[in-house]
Amino acid sequence: MPKITNNPNLCSIRVAGTGSYVPDKVLTNDDLAKIVDTSDEWIRSRTGIQERRIASDAQATSDLATEAAKRAMEQAGVTAEEIDLIIVATISPDTFFPSTACYVQRNLAAKNAVCFDISAACSGFLYAMSVARQFISTHTCDTALIIGAEKLSSMVNWEDRNTCVLFGDGAGAAVLKRAELDGEQGVLSAYMGSDGNQTDILVVPGGGSACPITPDNAEQRLNTISMQGKEVYRYAVTAMRRACDRVLQRANLKPEDISMVIPHQANFRIIEAIRERLDVPPEKMFINLQKYGNTSAAAIAIALDEAHRSGAIQRGDKIVLVAFGAGLTWAAAAICW
Ligand code: ACO
Repeated sequence: MPKITNNPNLCSIRVAGTGSYVPDKVLTNDDLAKIVDTSDEWIRSRTGIQERRIASDAQATSDLATEAAKRAMEQAGVTAEEIDLIIVATISPDTFFPSTACYVQRNLAAKNAVCFDISAACSGFLYAMSVARQFISTHTCDTALIIGAEKLSSMVNWEDRNTCVLFGDGAGAAVLKRAELDGEQGVLSAYMGSDGNQTDILVVPGGGSACPITPDNAEQRLNTISMQGKEVYRYAVTAMRRACDRVLQRANLKPEDISMVIPHQANFRIIEAIRERLDVPPEKMFINLQKYGNTSAAAIAIALDEAHRSGAIQRGDKIVLVAFGAGLTWAAAAICW
C-alpha cells in the first residue's frame, strides 16, 4: 500500500476522541416565524433547517467549547495536563482578547497547553486540524485539543430574516495524537484555500478596528452578520467540490472508497450539489443541519462527533470532511478513521 500522507515529511495523526455540546434551548422555525416575516416552509425548503440551539445569556463560547472538550478528552482517555496544544476555531470569541482558547485552558486546568484561536469562519475546525497536524508531525506537541465553537446568536440581527433563520450555537471538539501506523490510519491528506477578494459577501462589518462601534452604527446593527446569500451559495458549491477533489487526489482515493462525507452544515441544497459531483449515494452524506442550523466552525466538529458516537463511521472507514466559510475560506481532510 502506498504511503498516502500528502507531505512526505508529515507523519499521520489520528483522532483519539471526539465530543460535542449544544445548549438546551431549542428555537424552531415556527418560533422564528413569530419574530420575523418567515415560515417553516420557506426555511425548510431553502435550507433544510428545522430548528437550532440557542445558548443562555450566562454561556459564552468558551463554556460551550469546554463542555465539548471534556467529552472528547473523556473518550480519548487523556487528562487536562496531557494536552499541550489547544486551538479554538471561532468567529464569536468570548472577547477580542484574550483568546477563547485561553478561557478554555483555564476552565479545563490544562496548564501545559499552548493556546490560540483561529479565525476562518466555517472552515475553522478543519484549519485547526491542519495546524495541529503540523505541530504533532514536527514533534512540537504530542496531544492537541482542537475545538470549533460558536455563540452565533450573540452576533445575529434578530430582525433580519435573511440571516437570523440560518444560524445556531454549539461546539465540537477532537483530541488529536500521533498515529502508531504511519500512513494507514489518521489524517491521510488535507487541503486549505482562501480568497480575500470576497470579504464583503459574508461579514460582520462593525466592531473591529475598521469600524469601531458607535451608538449610531450599533443602531444600524453593523455588529451583526451580513450576508449576500446567493453569492455565498455559488462560491460554496464550487470551492467545496474542488476541495473534495484535492484531498481525494492527494490521498490517492476515489469517491467510491469513501464511506462517509461530513460536509459543512449550512444548507441541504449545497450538500446535495456536492453529493452529485462526487457521485456518492445520499446515505454517504452525514447531515444534522436540520437540528442545529449553521453553527459555523462548530458544524463539522459536532457532525463528526455525532457520526462517530452513532456508529455511522467505524474504525477503518475512509471519510472526507469538507467546509466553506467567510473570508472566503475552504478546507477539506481525508481521514482513515
Ligand atoms: N423567509 C422568507 N423569505 C425570505 C427569508 C426568510 N427567512 N429570507 C429571505 N427571504 C426572501 C428574500 O427577501 C427574497 O425575497 P425577494 O425575492 O422578494 O427579494 C427571497 O426570499 C429569495 O431570497 P434569496 O436570498 O434569493 O434566497 P435563496 O434561495 O438564495 O436562499 C439562502 C437564501 C438560504 C441564504 C442561500 O442563499 C444560502 O444558503 N446561501 C449560502 C449560505 C452559506 O453557505 N453560508 C456558509 C458560510 S456561513 C459562515 O461562514 C459564517
